[in-house]
Amino acid sequence: KLRFPTSLSIRAQAVPALTQDDLKKLAADKAVDYVKSGMVLGLGTGSTAAFVVDKLGLLLKTGQLTDIIGIPTSKRTEEQARSLNIPLTTLDEHPVLDLAIDGADEVDPDLNLVKGRGGALLREKMVEAASKSFVVVADETKLVSGLGGSKLAMPVEVVQFCWKYNLVRLQEMFKEVGAEAKLRLTPEGKPYVTDNFNYIVDLYFETPIRDGVAAGEEIGKLEGVVEHGLFLNMATAVIIAGKNGVEVKSK
Ligand code: 5RP
Repeated sequence: KLRFPTSLSIRAQAVPALTQDDLKKLAADKAVDYVKSGMVLGLGTGSTAAFVVDKLGLLLKTGQLTDIIGIPTSKRTEEQARSLNIPLTTLDEHPVLDLAIDGADEVDPDLNLVKGRGGALLREKMVEAASKSFVVVADETKLVSGLGGSKLAMPVEVVQFCWKYNLVRLQEMFKEVGAEAKLRLTPEGKPYVTDNFNYIVDLYFETPIRDGVAAGEEIGKLEGVVEHGLFLNMATAVIIAGKNGVEVKSK
């Protein structure tokens, strides 16, 4: 397992206006510092993880990294990695990974996460759970005091069969905290279908989830629920880029 500092701040150079993409790239570059030749790597999904994959492709091309092999967490990431000639494998072939690097939608002070707004939560959770180290890359807008606190979606992947039945059960489960459950739709208004041919019910919380472990367990008990976007006690380290620099946090 890799070792990370409990807290490390690296001040950014005084760049007048860093865009959100600049920050994502800063976090991605810092995470790639932990990649060594010969590693089996989990390749995340989303705009921040895409910077990681780009960088890996570049380092392979220039010979600064050799013999790495990646397990993509979505069809999108698989396509990107293939276009960069990053060798790929599967969890079946390599059930233990050295390091997975991925973005997140929310990061709480205990390094618990909400993931899956990009729809890849199931493969992400499988790959990241199988990894000896899991490093999260994010810009500072992802920091929350409690999960669900951004008021944006907390995804739950459900089978297509009787999805409405499960949407109602999820809505009922969080009725007391005023959460709303909605089927995720494409821009064309059709149900969003995941890489695993399932649907996504997004939960919108009024207030942060008080007990993430209990919430995750309750959701997981529902028949027909495939996975949820609460990634609890999974991150080894979080690399957060903000206007003042990059911070590496681990527990
Ligand atoms: C995809 C994810 C992403 O990691 C998450 O949505 C963050 O994406 P981005 O880096 O584009 O903000 O969980 O399922």
